[in-house]
Amino acid sequence: MELLTKAPKGTADIVPGASEKWQVMESVFRNEAELNGFSEVRTPVFEHTELFLRGMGDTTDVVEKQMYTFEDKGGRSITLRPEGTAGAVRAMLENGLYNAGYPVKMYYSIPCYRYEKPQAGRFREFRTFGVELFGAAEPAADAQIIAMGVSALRRLGLEDVSVQLNSIGCPDCRKEYHKALKEYFTAHKEQLCQTCLSRLDRNPMRILDCKNPACQEIAKAAPKITDYLCEDCRAHFEKVQSYLTKLGIEFELDPGLVRGLDYYTRTVFEFPSKSLGYALGGGGRYDGLVEELGGNPTPALGFGMGLDRIMAALEQKNTEFPAPNRCEVYVASIGEKALEKAMELVDSLHKCGIAADCDLCGRGLKAQMKYANKVGASYTLVLGDEEIEKNSADLKNMKTGETKRISLGESFTDDYLTASTAQNDLSI
Ligand code: HAM
Repeated sequence: MELLTKAPKGTADIVPGASEKWQVMESVFRNEAELNGFSEVRTPVFEHTELFLRGMGDTTDVVEKQMYTFEDKGGRSITLRPEGTAGAVRAMLENGLYNAGYPVKMYYSIPCYRYEKPQAGRFREFRTFGVELFGAAEPAADAQIIAMGVSALRRLGLEDVSVQLNSIGCPDCRKEYHKALKEYFTAHKEQLCQTCLSRLDRNPMRILDCKNPACQEIAKAAPKITDYLCEDCRAHFEKVQSYLTKLGIEFELDPGLVRGLDYYTRTVFEFPSKSLGYALGGGGRYDGLVEELGGNPTPALGFGMGLDRIMAALEQKNTEFPAPNRCEVYVASIGEKALEKAMELVDSLHKCGIAADCDLCGRGLKAQMKYANKVGASYTLVLGDEEIEKNSADLKNMKTGETKRISLGESFTDDYLTASTAQNDLSI
């Protein structure tokens, strides 16, 4: 029976009461993205497994250990998306969005799936808000993407989130760096975990991102990519930093930051929360990914924000969210005829965009009024035989207790608007 009443490990419901807070949080990200000219893209929850193998790199933790992969009834290998970037690139190419000219700017707010060991801030289903910007090679684009992330986090009041910044160069400068890393880690081979040993030849940079404490310890003294950047990558990185400084965005350089996915080139960044001790988001440039997935060479970059983690950060600092207006007017009724009228009035209020409700549970008047209070109705109407007969009723302001007689006939919504606006004016 437990299987029926317990959500799978690493997943959680966002129930009424919490979902309103999520909507507020998401609306800040959506608005920030739209202020910067980004439009929403909606891609499938599952994609061909190949997309992620090619996109994220087959030596990454996500691909090696965490993907929800299955064969569908047609014998295709399908994977629940572990992140949003690969799907966004595929959608950009498949729909020829580049035909309208660059830059192409998109955002998404999506659930993602990774088979992780659930712990604080780490779930198997989690939500990310991501932005992807295609066709912009200039360092100004890197700075703007980082600024967008910072701006949204600040608007949410998350002041203790910083920016960690690094450049991991291009495939050219990385060749030399890989050589140096391989040499270094080979000398410490005995201490590396099995996964890192297998990465030593294929992708030594991944060892820098290993979660195993022994590997992390060795990684501390490993050669730093920033000592191997080519002239172009160095100049690009310096310009990104100078733009950020001009925009008043503080950042910390972290030469050990390599990110957990293989597609990154040049600028990479994370937004760690000091109080929670983990990153709320991260991203970077991925100038080779569009070509890797079958498109023309296209510079691109973006970020992904972990919305579950951001909600945890907001809750930790007891952020107050505006109370949702679930019911402005409650129309109570006594008897069948009155209920019919109440339903009609509620319907006409909805058509004017006013949140209204009536009894759906066969309750008596006292219980209905208790409910009206519980849902925070600003106004109530009580309909009984007398009100139906006279086709008018007293609109009660629940805060002040004042009442105003209004018609239940054709002029009902106009009367309501006048009566309630008058009350609102008084309260301002
Ligand atoms: P990522 O760093 O793997 O990057 O994930 C982005 C954010 O999602 C993380 O910073 C974290 O807040 C959150 N996150 C990741 N895994 C989990 C999890 N298991 N449970 C809860 N939250 C999690 C990406 O996915 C890239 N696609 C970001 C990007 C977009 N880069 C360029 N464009």
